Amino acid sequence: MKPSREIRNDFLKFFEERGHRIVPSAPVIPHGDPTLLFTNAGMNQFKDVFLGEGKRDYTRAADTQKCIRVSGKHNDLEEVGRDTYHHTFFEMLGNWSFGDYYKREAIQWAWELLTGVWKLPKERLWATVFTTDDEAHALWQEVTDIDPSHILRFGEKENFWEMGDTGPCGPCSEIHMDLTPEGNAPADLVNADDPRVIEIWNLVFIQNNRTNQGDLEPLPAKHVDTGMGFERICAALKCMENEFKIPPSNYDTDVFTPLISTLRDITGKPYKDGNDQVAMRVISDHVRALTFAIADGAIPSNEGRGYVLRRILRRAARFGRNLEMRDPFIYRLVDVLVVTMGDVFPEIKEQQSHIERVIKSEEEGFNATLDRGLEIFTEIIEKMKTSGENTIPGDDVFKLYDTYGFPVDLTALLARERGFTIDEQGFERLMTEQRERSRDVKKSAGDDSRPAITIESSILKPEQFTFTGYGNFESSARVILADNNLLVLAESPFYAEAGGQIGDTGEIQINGKTYRVIDTQKKNNVSIHILDEPAEITPGTEVTARIDKKRRVDIQRNHSATHIVHEALRQILGTHVQQQGSLVAPDRLRFDFPHFSKISAEELRDIEQMVNEKIKESIPVEDAILPYDEARKIPNVKMFFGEKYGDEVRIVIIDEKFSVEFCGGTHVPRTDDIGLFKIIHESSIASGVRRIEALTGEGIKRYIHEKIQEAEQTEENITKKFEEISSLQEELSKYTEEKQQQLTRPSLGAIDTSIADSITEANLHRIEELVRERKSIDDELTQAARDLRKQITKHKSRSAIQNIDSYLEQAISLNGFKLLTLQLEVDSMDELKSFGDSLRAKIGSGVGVIGTVINDKVQLLCVVTDDLIQERKLQAGKIVGEVAKLVGGGGGGRPHLATAGGREPEKLSDALKEVRRIVGSMLE
Ligand code: SER
Repeated sequence: MKPSREIRNDFLKFFEERGHRIVPSAPVIPHGDPTLLFTNAGMNQFKDVFLGEGKRDYTRAADTQKCIRVSGKHNDLEEVGRDTYHHTFFEMLGNWSFGDYYKREAIQWAWELLTGVWKLPKERLWATVFTTDDEAHALWQEVTDIDPSHILRFGEKENFWEMGDTGPCGPCSEIHMDLTPEGNAPADLVNADDPRVIEIWNLVFIQNNRTNQGDLEPLPAKHVDTGMGFERICAALKCMENEFKIPPSNYDTDVFTPLISTLRDITGKPYKDGNDQVAMRVISDHVRALTFAIADGAIPSNEGRGYVLRRILRRAARFGRNLEMRDPFIYRLVDVLVVTMGDVFPEIKEQQSHIERVIKSEEEGFNATLDRGLEIFTEIIEKMKTSGENTIPGDDVFKLYDTYGFPVDLTALLARERGFTIDEQGFERLMTEQRERSRDVKKSAGDDSRPAITIESSILKPEQFTFTGYGNFESSARVILADNNLLVLAESPFYAEAGGQIGDTGEIQINGKTYRVIDTQKKNNVSIHILDEPAEITPGTEVTARIDKKRRVDIQRNHSATHIVHEALRQILGTHVQQQGSLVAPDRLRFDFPHFSKISAEELRDIEQMVNEKIKESIPVEDAILPYDEARKIPNVKMFFGEKYGDEVRIVIIDEKFSVEFCGGTHVPRTDDIGLFKIIHESSIASGVRRIEALTGEGIKRYIHEKIQEAEQTEENITKKFEEISSLQEELSKYTEEKQQQLTRPSLGAIDTSIADSITEANLHRIEELVRERKSIDDELTQAARDLRKQITKHKSRSAIQNIDSYLEQAISLNGFKLLTLQLEVDSMDELKSFGDSLRAKIGSGVGVIGTVINDKVQLLCVVTDDLIQERKLQAGKIVGEVAKLVGGGGGGRPHLATAGGREPEKLSDALKEVRRIVGSMLE
């Protein structure tokens, strides 16, 4: 059979010969388009061109685009695996005209490629056009030799293509192929969701934009956007090679057969029998979506696209259970993809081990609850069968979600397999409640404390505002607007919080009065200065705006360090490291990124070292404004998912071979202005997401001061412990004749506080060393004190036990046995208990009740000898319980030995006087 890679190449070559620029696939995670979770069509990367907002230096392009369709307008998830031609991930071959050719060439060339190059039988092809598109209808007859009765008209649902709820769109013309053995499918099988007649190519004539309000507006120019399902055309060509005798399946092409055969090896099951076959298709489909999405920077999580990935993975894992796979195995298929597709999409090869780790750890996580969840699900179904219900209640769906990690569509799938449905609305209601609860918690934790900017966006005009703060710390400026304590200026050096860098503070002088700026925030790309008090100022007034320079310089140090550490992390941990969040503050920086294991002390040291070397190299930190399209092509440039970039972007360069990053923030002029870099904390903030916190410059100074304080505090502790130990030793010597063990205090060097003022790596290490040393002495002393205390206890109880005979003389006799009531001074329950044990052994036949006060609480102990338990039915637990009531407490225990506590020590001696009465009453 013709290998799929040849088919892909045929397509690209055909359009290259017709003047098309072959462009790379955009990432499957769309950069800069918040309306999309995943790239769902080849045209996504050209959306700006269609809307007239962006330009390319070519007007014709072709590519193969990685697409995922599992959410939003184009969602094929339900079909995947059940049929043979829908996928979560697929390649879309496409050709485009940007205001260049239109319907005629699009139709003519499609026909030529299909029937001329690939030789598809013309009589098996059908074309559809939009109901009112007479032009396309006529062109099909004019420029091709298609059977005119094979041109059909369809309505909006089939033949008006839209990317999402908003965006470029237009009428389309689709090509469908008849794959029946006889090639005589009737017209009504076209667009009937029937595997025998499938859509292979969609030619969209982009001429409108769907606005936020849902209206259609005409676009400035007309464009062509075509998309052909790569896996489908491979299946169609294979079906043709088999003379249409074997029903087509995308899974029978070499796009999928290596995956299926590996799955057969792993599971030991054949690729046949309805259920196993569906399971293998689902898994081999889903692993592709997971692999490509993770390679492009997505990570399974509980939100947004991360949650979509989690759902896909869990669906695959559940189908794995149907194949009796209990241990993680899906990750083992990644290698097959790397081998078969790694040359076309090198990103999966580069990220292989990261992808495998992410998938494996997700599988492990879900496997842990999957069995129990499936059991619960079966119980629910059984219950419903008895009650004759058909819809699984929202509560149950929610419980499966919340406790067992079953995404709602997985529960829906399981239900459907058994002929049930789920109460989706009920589930959603519970989800909303949960979300609100967690929002309340966040609020009370002070997360949302920043007041909203009350100025309307519409009156803020970005074109009237200039940020002057890249080079200046002070400007004079004209007031545009003052609203309560919010102030807008025509130009300002105040940086408004963005990209992790927090807003500037400082002061503004207005008519001789100085106002403090406590924060700066951005709205509609205009900086809003937040003053510490309301100011009444008329627009047009001239003011002087001055930022807190020292604070800003600290922020700049941390910002430049963030760029350097980002690259250092990639070089040391791997290129899967991509910024997921950051905080750039004056006193510290924080950086979050996907990574699947704890960062070892050694790695942290290497990262720190690399950053400090770059600092020492005194590299100039430069910036440039470039067209977006040019900037994003810079090798290894760092840009961010979910960010919306304009036509022009600012990049910050710290040695073009080291770090080039899209960034609007402010930086130090040269790297050695950062001073020094120190990682102080490394942690996990979510599954697969790590956080490091670090310091530079001033932050390190403060850190050293804190460390010195810590050292001094430890030193104080050490002194206290020495005193404690000497007093313990004294006490010990009272109980022993043994020679006092001599503990000599190690001599402690003076702490040189002056070193905090000169920050060098050597000083930093010295102070850290000092703290470590002090702490270990402190620990040793704690242990020594603990040992001494133990010894003393042992000595004390030994002497009390030795004295038991004298205590026993105080026992009275009661109905033929001995009763001893005692108030002792002991230090611990252990001592009390060992005294009780000895008493019980020595008393012969009797009852002992001992009370003591430890740490202001009464402790009681009662022992009863075996003969009294059996013959007189006395029980230590009951006796001690009654006594405890008299001292404001309670307790109990076994018949022969029991303890109790009480809160009223002052009542102890009276309570002990009652013991005789209590025991007596129990005898009757
Ligand atoms: N945008 C159209 C589609 O996705 C053609 O590429 O079907």
